[in-house]
Amino acid sequence: MSKPLSIGVAGLGTVGVGVVKILAERKDFLTAASGRAMKLVAVSARNKTKDRGIDISGVRWEDDARAMSSADDIDVVVELIGGSDGIARELVETALSNGKHVVTANKALIARHGVALARVAEQRGVALNYEAAVAGGIPIIKALREGLAANEITSVAGILNGTCNYILTEMEATGRSFEAVLADAQALGYAEADPSFDVGGIDAAHKLAILASLAFGQEVSFDNVEVEGIERITASDIEFAKDFGYKIKLLGVAMRGPGGVEQRVHPTLVPEGTPLAAVSGVFNAVSIEGDRVGQLVLEGRGAGEGPTASAVLSDLVDIARGLVVPPFIVPTSHLKPSVKAKSDANKSAYYIRFNAADRAGSIAEITRALADAQVSIERIVQSSEPRDASTGRLPVVFLTHETEEGSMRKALIHLSKHEDVAGKPLVVRLATSGSR
Ligand SMILES: NC(=O)c1ccc[n+]([C@@H]2O[C@H](COP(=O)([O-])OP(=O)(O)OC[C@H]3O[C@@H](n4cnc5c(N)ncnc54)[C@H](OP(=O)(O)O)[C@@H]3O)[C@@H](O)[C@H]2O)c1
Repeated sequence: MSKPLSIGVAGLGTVGVGVVKILAERKDFLTAASGRAMKLVAVSARNKTKDRGIDISGVRWEDDARAMSSADDIDVVVELIGGSDGIARELVETALSNGKHVVTANKALIARHGVALARVAEQRGVALNYEAAVAGGIPIIKALREGLAANEITSVAGILNGTCNYILTEMEATGRSFEAVLADAQALGYAEADPSFDVGGIDAAHKLAILASLAFGQEVSFDNVEVEGIERITASDIEFAKDFGYKIKLLGVAMRGPGGVEQRVHPTLVPEGTPLAAVSGVFNAVSIEGDRVGQLVLEGRGAGEGPTASAVLSDLVDIARGLVVPPFIVPTSHLKPSVKAKSDANKSAYYIRFNAADRAGSIAEITRALADAQVSIERIVQSSEPRDASTGRLPVVFLTHETEEGSMRKALIHLSKHEDVAGKPLVVRLATSGSR
């Protein structure tokens, strides 16, 4: 049997502890599956004395994780610290430059610097694996890289942030406000003390940028993702959507559009009865459409110790087996630059909610203003509650027919100028066929 694969784990938090546990508990199986033993030789975290519930007594402690990147006895550095820059980036970059394989769960790092790091990995002939960075325990990267290699991918859509999906599911189940459910999620440990990365859609956008690169053979470009979070969704929106036969989900969607690839993260009305509508709580799901395979939906836990460590281990097994593949499926020289698709001609139906004066003729005028912008209305609901405390205005909800995004933008300008409309209307897309 070949010599053991020597591993250094940098970061012993939720994921790092999970990885150390699996390495110990599944040792025999992992050795048999890989054809060689996996040996944990070094670990690092900030606090050396913290009890983490794992046995690391025979393992070297590095006060500075960066020492792993040049240690002669380490073949693979597993980066589980986090952050797109700082020590995580330095550690990964140096380890790759020094000819060490790297496994990471760090979506922010890969979304921001993935291609540059992949170039270094390719030059040195080592692996840069990051299965855990997208949708936790769901083996989505291997699915795209291996199982779907025969397909031209036409769209990828996913529920990529468990915190948001938990909040939206709870709001639906209990009728409570976004703020109240977020506070509970924080108390339960499902949401960070600073939840802005999750609820603002940034975390999902990091993952979507990676998926879009893999699916469409383009460079990862986080800056080309349009991002909108769930902060403005109210319990009444969820109730209105339900009456129309939809659930509200934070979706990440990537598909080919005119002149480029569209990459968007935003709340979306997803028709009940479709796979993504059925995904509840902290679960993640990714729906892929390939020209040969049709639609494929993978669902599972997107975070947490076990699922994330499970994905890290699958990357380690690949390396132990000697499998080194281009980090973005094709060599970086084959990746196309990421070009943002022109969005004006994109077609979608929309949910629009705004507060309007309770005045005869007001809705007819607003509808006419929208029609002038080529937006036609399929359904209107004028609700008697909740009445806006300061203006006395009442919520009005429109569902539009399919319309071009450019027309919708014009319609919103008309709407915001109308004297009976208060505040900024909430506009939510209805899922198109590639995003359900
Ligand atoms: N948690 C999840 O479910 C999940 C899911 C998917 C991906 N990820 C990704 O996995 C990575 C790790 O996440 P996590 O949830 O495990 O984070 P975490 O629980 O906050 O753990 C981070 C670890 O990094 C250590 N650390 C921080 N700064 C360090 C430094 N300068 N040098 C050495 N160690 C340092 C911390 O040390 P101390 O323990 O001593 O403070 C801690 O052990 C992140 O990139 C995250 O985005 C996490």
